[in-house]
Amino acid sequence: MASSGIIVFIFTVLCICAVKSGFIKVECKAENVGHYGQQSLLECVVKTSSDVTDPNIRVVAWKKLTSPEDGGDLVLAFQRGKLDQPKRGYRFAEPSWNEKNMNVSLLITNTAVADNGDYKCIVITDSGDDSIVTTLKVQAKYSISTVYSIPEKIVPNKGSTLVCESHGGYPKGTLRWFDEENHDWTKSSEMEATQSDDGLFQLTSRLSLLGGSTFPKYTCAVFNASGGKVDEKTFETNIPPSSPLESPGSSGLLSPYTSKVVAPLVVIGSLIIGLLLLLLYKRRSQKTRRNSTAPLMGGRDAVPTDLEEGYNSPEDESINQDQS
Ligand SMILES: *[C@@H]1O[C@H](CO)[C@@H](O)[C@H](O)[C@H]1NC(C)=O
Ligand SMILES: *[C@@H]1O[C@H](CO)[C@@H](O)[C@H](O)[C@H]1NC(C)=O
Repeated sequence: MASSGIIVFIFTVLCICAVKSGFIKVECKAENVGHYGQQSLLECVVKTSSDVTDPNIRVVAWKKLTSPEDGGDLVLAFQRGKLDQPKRGYRFAEPSWNEKNMNVSLLITNTAVADNGDYKCIVITDSGDDSIVTTLKVQAKYSISTVYSIPEKIVPNKGSTLVCESHGGYPKGTLRWFDEENHDWTKSSEMEATQSDDGLFQLTSRLSLLGGSTFPKYTCAVFNASGGKVDEKTFETNIPPSSPLESPGSSGLLSPYTSKVVAPLVVIGSLIIGLLLLLLYKRRSQKTRRNSTAPLMGGRDAVPTDLEEGYNSPEDESINQDQS
């Protein structure tokens, strides 16, 4: 009974296709955005060529495709003059749709993450048939539920961790960390994403704070898949602000801890190099002086010069003594 019905149905379809294809076209918005928990519209209309008058729709089938190869999952169907029992939550967008209405848009009444994906709309009319695939992109807005620290009370100069939790978003987003001067500390953090049964993502990020590099305030911000900031929450560490010297470089990568260690090293290093250069210079000037004064030693004129300059170092003193 049912199978003979299907055969008759297919036969009719084939006849229609053979005789009158190409006179109608289904046109959809290529991409539709749907919001989680709200209504989503997959907008499609049947366009007919100018020589078609008073078209009647015989079949409309809306299928959710799970993979490009498979036949899909029928969610809404009109055939043989009546609407099949649709899958719950799916209906024609036009409230009192009938076979004369060329607006075959699909309405999803309570959008879920599972509704994300491709849909095929098949239309058969008495003037031809067509089918098309359109996409629904489901979005759910993230919000930050909590930011807290481990340990609860942050002790200065001791390591601690800030934890930021965000939930209820789709598709997968990211959590980022900023200090009060808007330097990005995300590189010092680790993020974890889990998907709950309803398909929504829960994001958790842990920011490691090194002792001595803790700022008074940190902001955790959640960004959606297209990089838009959606929500943020600020956490106060109750650590007094550090001196300007200790603030990180504009790159935000050099931590105050590093600059604290590096600065004295640079000073000590340059002092040592300076002293070495000074010593070397002294040695050199003494050598050259001795070389130049040696041939004059015997001469009377040399003596006052030697006396004037010579007593500066013990070596010169001994030379002068030898001479006398
Ligand atoms: C189709 O119907 C829906 C629901 O009434 C409406 O929002 C949409 O704008 C219609 N589309 C066209 C192209 O008429
Ligand atoms: C991301 O957020 C921006 C701004 O809030 C919004 O315009 C955009 O549609 C969102 N995109 C997604 C994929 O959620």
